[in-house]
Formats: sequence, C-alpha cells, structure tokens
Amino acid sequence: MARLCIYPGSFDPLTNGHLDLIRRSLDVFSKVIVAIAVNSKKTPLFSTEKRVEMIKKVLDEELAPEERKRVKVDNFEGLLIDYAQKKKANVIIRGLRAVSDFEYEFQMASMNRKLNPKVEMMFMMTDEANFYISSQTVKEVASLHGCIDGLVPKYIKQELIKKYGSRQNDATVIKSSTKGRKGCKK
Ligand code: PNS
Repeated sequence: MARLCIYPGSFDPLTNGHLDLIRRSLDVFSKVIVAIAVNSKKTPLFSTEKRVEMIKKVLDEELAPEERKRVKVDNFEGLLIDYAQKKKANVIIRGLRAVSDFEYEFQMASMNRKLNPKVEMMFMMTDEANFYISSQTVKEVASLHGCIDGLVPKYIKQELIKKYGSRQNDATVIKSSTKGRKGCKK
C-alpha cells in the first residue's frame, strides 16, 4: 500500500463527506494526516483545538481500530505545501463533489504545484450521498434549527446543537416517501 498522504481542510465542522474521504484515503494510503488549516483571517465556528478534539472523537467512534491507528489529526499554519514538506508527504488529498468545486481546486492545485512540483494533489469523489454536503451549508441549516441528520456524524451534530440550540422534533429521523432515503420529520 502506498505511503503517507495529507488530507487538509478547514473542517469547521467535519461532515459525513469528510469522513467518507478519510475512509477512502485509508484504502489507498498506509497513513493519513487530517490537517486542520489555521487561518487567522477567518473566524471559525469551532476553535482549532475543538476541531482537533471533535475529529479525534469521531474517528475513535467511526473507524475500526486498525484504521484508527493509521490516522493522525493535526493542525498547521502557513502554506500547505510547506506543511507537506515538513511531514515528508508528497501526496495531498482533496475531495471533489460537484463541477463547481473544480475551479477552486484547480487553482489551488496549480498554485501548490508551482510552489513545489514534487508534491502531488490527488482528488477523490465522495459518495453520491454526500455530493451536496458542505460545512457551510450544514452550519446554516443547524443555525436555523433545521435537521442535520445524515449530514454530519452524531457527535458533530451534538456539538452544533450546543452552539445553536435545537427545535423539538427537528432531529427525528423518519423514512420519507422517497424510496430508502432518510428524511427529517417536520
Ligand atoms: O476546507 P477548505 O476550507 O476548502 O480547505 C482549504 C485549505 C485549507 C486546504 C486551503 O485554504 C489551504 O491550503 N490553506 C493553507 C494556505 C495555503 O497553502 N494557500 C496556498 C494554496 S492556494
């Protein structure tokens, strides 16, 4: 199995899409570093320390012990490419959902390649169930007390509810009329 990869992002918070990507990376790489980017120009909902703690907790709960021991959770400041070099990683993983992700990722990958052509960016598609999920939309729905079941791991949902509160019954999961899909009771 190939070596080490870095999976960077804001993870504010981790979603089911991110978790899917971590699992996929573990199928290909022997070790994965989930690296939270610290951006002093942005005000995240969760502090860096909290995001590290939340991701570790979700991985402890969701991954098999053999997989868990192959994932490290870390944070970094500055250029991603410098962090990759410091960690002696020459592969960076990013997830792709829709075509709309492509332009941003293309720009970032091209810039990273200019900065260090030896570090390869690799893209993986998330499961189709996660195509529309982003941390941003999850936060918006949670802040408006909408149901976020199926979008984030349980522990993340609890933490979002702690931040924003919840409306009674919003979180009840039912089988909706769309075959096999889980919906939320209104
Ligand atoms: O989850 P996100 O917010 O889409 O992740 C973006 C991230 C953190 C991977 C990107 O902003 C990044 O690499 N930041 C570190 C700073 C950097 O290296 N910038 C140059 C690349 S354009």
